[in-house]
Amino acid sequence: MKEAILVIGAAGQIGSELVHALREIHGNDKVIASDVHEKAPEHLAYGPYEQTDVLDTKKLGEVVLGNKITEVYHLAALLSATAEKNPALGWELNMTGLSNVLDLAREGHIKRMFWPSSIAVFGPNTPKIKTPQRTVCEPTTVYGITKVAGESWCEYYHNRYGIDIRSVRYPGIIGHKSAPGGGTTDYAVHIFHEAVRHGRYECFLSKEAALPMMYMPDATKAVLELMAAPSENIGLRTAYNISGFSFTPDVLAAAIQKHMPEFEITYNPDYRDKIAKSWPSSLDDSAARKDWGWKPDFDIDAMVADMLKNISEQTGVH
Ligand code: SER
Repeated sequence: MKEAILVIGAAGQIGSELVHALREIHGNDKVIASDVHEKAPEHLAYGPYEQTDVLDTKKLGEVVLGNKITEVYHLAALLSATAEKNPALGWELNMTGLSNVLDLAREGHIKRMFWPSSIAVFGPNTPKIKTPQRTVCEPTTVYGITKVAGESWCEYYHNRYGIDIRSVRYPGIIGHKSAPGGGTTDYAVHIFHEAVRHGRYECFLSKEAALPMMYMPDATKAVLELMAAPSENIGLRTAYNISGFSFTPDVLAAAIQKHMPEFEITYNPDYRDKIAKSWPSSLDDSAARKDWGWKPDFDIDAMVADMLKNISEQTGVH
């Protein structure tokens, strides 16, 4: 059997789309999807699947060695809002899970790895506008703490053990093929489903909570391009800022109203609003642009048009 690729957390929002993209490039059989669920989700079942809990080191080792895995996309994590409800599990899954994968790399099994970081590494003391690549972090969520520590942990494994590990700080990701799970930025996906189904949405952030966001095709493109870049171009082994566009909930609502003038938004902010307000409004991604040519394709209007079209088709509402 030839070397293969493993996607851990394949059933999640990013994994569901990344598996398809990787299978298109490398072939269905070479890309093994894995998640905690016993069976592959229907949309991934056309290729190989392994049930794996990243905290189960024995099973994880068997999957990696048994399938001759040399490249891993490790996406399994508790996101910001869910991790605040169970901080101990957030720490365990996000940190110990990462360590378990890194240790298989240190032992020489995994040669290349992608692990996503997040805008959640930043906190209330971070400059909010065009947040620089290198600046004060001081995150206030357990998710952000695990991401900032994970970035340094990845850099350490690169410097000390020579593992080719690469990362980006994802903003909120918007897509129509898979549901987000437990993030502060999830409103920007829910709003489209509610707009198409009910013509209204009650937002759990306040109207002025500006956050960096990105459309899923750009999020997938970022990981594929980062992983394809020559190693000597990767000047940063923590994680690159990458930016798509930024908006507040009321700006997003106005962009939806251009297509659906009757759409209504109301606001009922909860604990997630405080998380959102601790994060940047926009990012400076010049390091990613310079080192590996990062450039997003979608702006907010192109994203909104594409989301409404696809979700209307899915729901049969036109
Ligand atoms: N989308 C993530 C969250 O809201 C940020 O990385 O938790």
